[in-house]
Amino acid sequence: MKVSAVVLVLVAFQAAAAAAVVQATAPGTPTVGYYNDKCNGSVEGIVRDTVKAALDADITKGAALVRLSFHDCFVRGCDGSVLLDPTCANPYPEKTSGANIGLRGFDVIDAIKANLESACPSTVSCADTLAFAARDASRYLSKGGIDYAVPAGRLDGVVSSAADAESNLPGSTFDVATLISNFAAKGFTPEELVILSGAHSIGRAHCSSFRDRLSAPSGKINPYFRDNVLAKDCGAGPADPTVENNIRDQNATALGNLTSYVVPASGGASLDNSYYINNLNNLVLFHSD
Ligand code: HEM
Repeated sequence: MKVSAVVLVLVAFQAAAAAAVVQATAPGTPTVGYYNDKCNGSVEGIVRDTVKAALDADITKGAALVRLSFHDCFVRGCDGSVLLDPTCANPYPEKTSGANIGLRGFDVIDAIKANLESACPSTVSCADTLAFAARDASRYLSKGGIDYAVPAGRLDGVVSSAADAESNLPGSTFDVATLISNFAAKGFTPEELVILSGAHSIGRAHCSSFRDRLSAPSGKINPYFRDNVLAKDCGAGPADPTVENNIRDQNATALGNLTSYVVPASGGASLDNSYYINNLNNLVLFHSD
């Protein structure tokens, strides 16, 4: 998969999802450079610098931001509603949904928003903040290979429901037909589904998200990977540890002969096309992969 293809689809991802939310919440259409004439043109730079500082301190936060944006955009469009905390009036917002297991990176969004508020109060929506942050994390993790202009000017959503998240987000046990129809409902082609799934070259997952794979037949998953890597990492008890999504990032000692399949990060960029190579070798975590 060429990086340029990934870029195009990420742009489409945000544009399609942004269009959905704008129809629901605002008359305007998001535009590239929306904040250029606000806050001395410093908005996107503040986001970029804060994301860079956060990833310099903990690079795993990059994957968190990419997934956060996906999970925001797939539920009522890119309206920031995934960021809302439970309240007495709304005890079950999106982030409490089981489909949002492991969602993290909220602290990075809070840090960006604090910096934005200090430089230009009440100017930048949380929805735009998250969309910019995911782009900047993608650029950081791909060493500049993935970069795209983000249309902005979104309003923040005020509705956030766990039930909406459950019914819109894809599940890790979905088969290909269900995934295709889930993505088609958001305007994506099967090819775009495949391209976007390449994001699983980064990040991590809870064992509960792929426990079904520990008993999957050998034709569906490399049996050494299943029995000697994943099963050992996950254990049989009630604990639900996390495992790296990409075999490249897993403990090399445990991999045994599988190290011959490991695709080194290209030029240090972890957001690359290794997911597809892993996939062809039955070395990915989820049934949906
Ligand atoms: C095709 C359907 C998809 C399914 C079923 C799916 C499912 C999952 C699951 C179950 C996890 C692990 C959650 C956990 O156990 O903590 C995960 C992680 C992740 N997903 Fe997906 N995903 C899909 C598509 C995508 C897309 C389109 C993106 C972004 C463009 C994405 C980005 C990520 C990232 C970056 C992580 C790691 C997050 C972290 O490290 O915190 N996924 N995904």
